[in-house]
Amino acid sequence: MPDLATPLTHAAADVLRANDRGEQTVAAPLLYPHQWSWDAAFVAIGWGTVSVPRALDELRHLLRGQWRTGMIPQILFSAEPGYFPGPQRWRTVGLAAAPSDVVTSGICQPAVHSLAVWIIGEQAHRNGGADAEAFDLFLADTFDAWLAWHTWLDDARGTHPSGLIEIHHPWESGMDNSPRWDAACARVRVGEMAPYIREDTKHVADSGERPADADYDRYLWLVEQLVSVRYDDAAAREVIDFRVGDVFFTAVHALSADLLARLGTRLGRTTEAATLREMAARARAAVAATVDPGTGHARDYDMRAGEWLTASTIGGFAALICGAEPREYTRLVADLLGPAWCGHASLANPLPPTTSPDSPVFVSRNYWRGPQWPVITWLFTWALRHHGESEAADAIAAAGRRQLADGTFAEYYDAVSGAALGSRDQSWTAAAALAWAAEEDA
Ligand code: SER
Repeated sequence: MPDLATPLTHAAADVLRANDRGEQTVAAPLLYPHQWSWDAAFVAIGWGTVSVPRALDELRHLLRGQWRTGMIPQILFSAEPGYFPGPQRWRTVGLAAAPSDVVTSGICQPAVHSLAVWIIGEQAHRNGGADAEAFDLFLADTFDAWLAWHTWLDDARGTHPSGLIEIHHPWESGMDNSPRWDAACARVRVGEMAPYIREDTKHVADSGERPADADYDRYLWLVEQLVSVRYDDAAAREVIDFRVGDVFFTAVHALSADLLARLGTRLGRTTEAATLREMAARARAAVAATVDPGTGHARDYDMRAGEWLTASTIGGFAALICGAEPREYTRLVADLLGPAWCGHASLANPLPPTTSPDSPVFVSRNYWRGPQWPVITWLFTWALRHHGESEAADAIAAAGRRQLADGTFAEYYDAVSGAALGSRDQSWTAAAALAWAAEEDA
């Protein structure tokens, strides 16, 4: 257990408690008053350092939203107001594939959940006793649900010859307005739709911290297109204006599927474990095949246009998440730590910026166009350690913890000024603080 007497760790646990709504934790007060899919996984990791049963409840609640296809949806709506687009825009209620007792959005987010299950399992078994028992029961109960999620990604979203997992909305990447999607978004032709009023910009100090209005038009239009085919994946591949192979999503799927395979082996589910390992190997190979020989970075692929997407973003380091051939991995680590990225002279903190500060589209304070996101920093540190690069992981984690010492638990930080941005008391930022503290104690 992390030392809860440490003021920062104590404050992080308080953020989770304040955002706790019983079985679900809102991603942030005001700005995100619902349960988000990948947020919930990170949040569960944070809860796991405080209370294993509470962590397991978070994931069980998320699974209540799982679609019959296997998809884990991006949002499970609570009754709290203040967020747009809500259920009226998503129009998932009554769809055969959607759950009948929970209202959800109709898209997904990166599959970090089996990673969370793995980490919570490690914590539970370190604690022993009732925590270990509760975890083992949870794993036996939910293994098939996580398996169905990865299987759906592989079957419904992994059909392209590139082997990349395809996404149909920038929100599915979790990195909404990243320059990764600029070229593909430019090809979205927004049609007639009902007018709307944004809520998100009301909850931040400066609307320049959020995506632009033109981005929102596209986001809402893509929802209209998905509604028009009732979220049928095969039909969506035909009609959607945004159809992109997401290399970072693919890498996360590979890492998670590998970890779920290991958990499956423990349960004696050897056939399923072998299937998951094959899935992971395919996804890892797909990530490796995207590497631009010029930059050495992974690339997304615009399946509509048949073109590589080459923006210089954190997505280029996808192989650090899923693993790569050792020499290649070491080279990428050096690049991440070097002067074009974490070591860039303009940065307030030596942490991965979401877009390269050398890129012409870098904006140090705008959402995914430059700022540093503590939860992404944490994900890289976990993956680096997992793949044997502990020294780099320690260096980045130390800087990541120093960034959080301001106690705001901000959603993201201005990469150049270091200012806290977006929501305050963001649940997954608190979770990152807790996870780092627990790793230090482990
Ligand atoms: N991050 C998105 C938002 O800003 C949704 O996932 O609403």
